[in-house]
Amino acid sequence: MKARNPARPLTKNPNLLKWVAKMAELTKPAAIHWVDGSQEEYDALCEQMVDAGTFTRLNEKLWPGCYLARSNPDDVARVEDRTFICSLSKNNAGPTNNWVDPFQMRKKLKALFKGCMAGRTMYVLPFSMGPVGSPLSQLGVELTDSPYVVVNMRIMARIGLPVFKEIDKNEKRVVPCMHSVGAPLAKGQSDVPWPCNSEKYIVHFPESREIWSYGSGYGGNALLGKKCFALRIASNMARDEGWMAEHMLILGVEDPKGEKTYVAAAFPSACGKTNFAMLIPPPSLQEKGWKIWTVGDDIAWIKPDANGRLHAINPEAGFFGVAPGTSVKTNPNAMAALSKNTIFTNVGLTPDGGVWWEGMTDTPPAKLIDWRGKKWTPAIAKETGAKAAHPNSRFTAPARQCPTIDPAWEASEGVPISAIIFGGRRASTVPLVYQAFNWSAGVYVGATMGSEMTAAAAGTIGKVRRDPFAMLPFCGYHMGDYFRHWISMQRSLSETPRIFSVNWFRKDADGKFLWPGFSENMRILKWIVDRARGRALAKETPIGWQPRYDEIDWTGSDFTRERFTELQRVDRAAWRTEVIGHEELFIDLHAHLPKEMIYERELLICRL
Ligand code: OXD
Ligand code: MN
Repeated sequence: MKARNPARPLTKNPNLLKWVAKMAELTKPAAIHWVDGSQEEYDALCEQMVDAGTFTRLNEKLWPGCYLARSNPDDVARVEDRTFICSLSKNNAGPTNNWVDPFQMRKKLKALFKGCMAGRTMYVLPFSMGPVGSPLSQLGVELTDSPYVVVNMRIMARIGLPVFKEIDKNEKRVVPCMHSVGAPLAKGQSDVPWPCNSEKYIVHFPESREIWSYGSGYGGNALLGKKCFALRIASNMARDEGWMAEHMLILGVEDPKGEKTYVAAAFPSACGKTNFAMLIPPPSLQEKGWKIWTVGDDIAWIKPDANGRLHAINPEAGFFGVAPGTSVKTNPNAMAALSKNTIFTNVGLTPDGGVWWEGMTDTPPAKLIDWRGKKWTPAIAKETGAKAAHPNSRFTAPARQCPTIDPAWEASEGVPISAIIFGGRRASTVPLVYQAFNWSAGVYVGATMGSEMTAAAAGTIGKVRRDPFAMLPFCGYHMGDYFRHWISMQRSLSETPRIFSVNWFRKDADGKFLWPGFSENMRILKWIVDRARGRALAKETPIGWQPRYDEIDWTGSDFTRERFTELQRVDRAAWRTEVIGHEELFIDLHAHLPKEMIYERELLICRL
């Protein structure tokens, strides 16, 4: 069979053809490749990256179809200080986003992108966030000079010919996404394995629904369907169109009767969303017939259906999960999902052509090549603190490979959402679980979430920062208006999901975690689902409804009443300080803050 000529356009859409030509004129690539999304194309691009030194093919017997990439050490995480929301008015971006005047920014981008793809191929990558053809899905086209982006996007989104077909129907708006690693090649100049630029710009134009990303090839900076589109641009679409684009996992809880209850949960980056989405109940609850099904681990698009019931889809098709800490013990489902056809970035390479990261096994390999490409042994690690894998190293794995993937995960109408959970990483103050009194109290819980910083973004690890709805780095407009949108969503609902707060990370006076987490979280989730279905009791506290010790199913557990009491303690003095922290955030958002947030805060203070 004659190979397809990748330079031949795969669309008839005149707008798309015109845009591609215009962008090629600006960026001056050596070639244009229209991405069909086929396996052959994927294999060829991987092969090409193996030749270029970007990819290492892993041992086919141990890790079939898997590759390892090592990034430039200066390009390892999302760059929030280089991320911009360039709305026409600064007021619409709000104080939690970086804003630059869009006219000025366009000028800057034009200069940066001029000739930036010289010597490289520009890939025309059409993608659908959400199942192709679903009324809840959205379309985008990413023009990128990174083959690494193309192969990762093939796992993370639906791409290629079926999407071109959707675009040709001309029914849905298409979000244009420009991406360049910002490393043009002069004639004869040889390439590096991970081209990037020290100057980085991750730019969103919310009104024209455009994304421009320059200088980085890593994760959310470069896979533009994920954070840039599915959260920052989609949050704008959602506000305008009456739905919600959220940094949430989606899971289904199957009870002993075989009934499923779907739950969406927001946690800040690297707080265990992937583990929670793939939770395996403790044996004692499994025996009773409890099971968890995974719909998504990072993003949820949620919309009321014709009957006013919230339905959610996972706009993604893969998991871009944090590798360190993932193991057969902590998350066997993720380990199964990433066991084949997976791209690893910035993990260690073992002598037998496998991968390893901190926490994958109790005993590290005797030696390996670390994420920087340097020799690593446990002794070297002890002496220098060098990590085998970067703390934000990732696996890009197809969602369909997850053993607990829900049969309805690609349902065009989504799954019905009965409960929403907000969680953070808090050493003190916030109890293990409580239920908000009602929707607006729940919105207050989401709005005032806080978490200790993790490695998913550049910053000081361990410091608590307010991260409303886990959307601080992802809300594409004014955070106060976003709270208002949440409040107003209730009006279009016939049935309001119950809202809960969880904190798996509370510590005792000696700094030890009070709660074992992982599988044990099922006990809490069971109470949440039972509450949502009106079959569990709770007691009223100043902050919300809490389960009593006896309301949690402890079969097979020796967790004591005393420890549970400590975990659930509402320390009024600590909460009064906590509320002052809320006030700091609210002052920043003052002019756009819905009055419900002020009232909820006042009520909380009164109850304390
Ligand atoms: C992610 C993040 O990669 O939140 O999901 O940073
Ligand atoms: Mn995330």
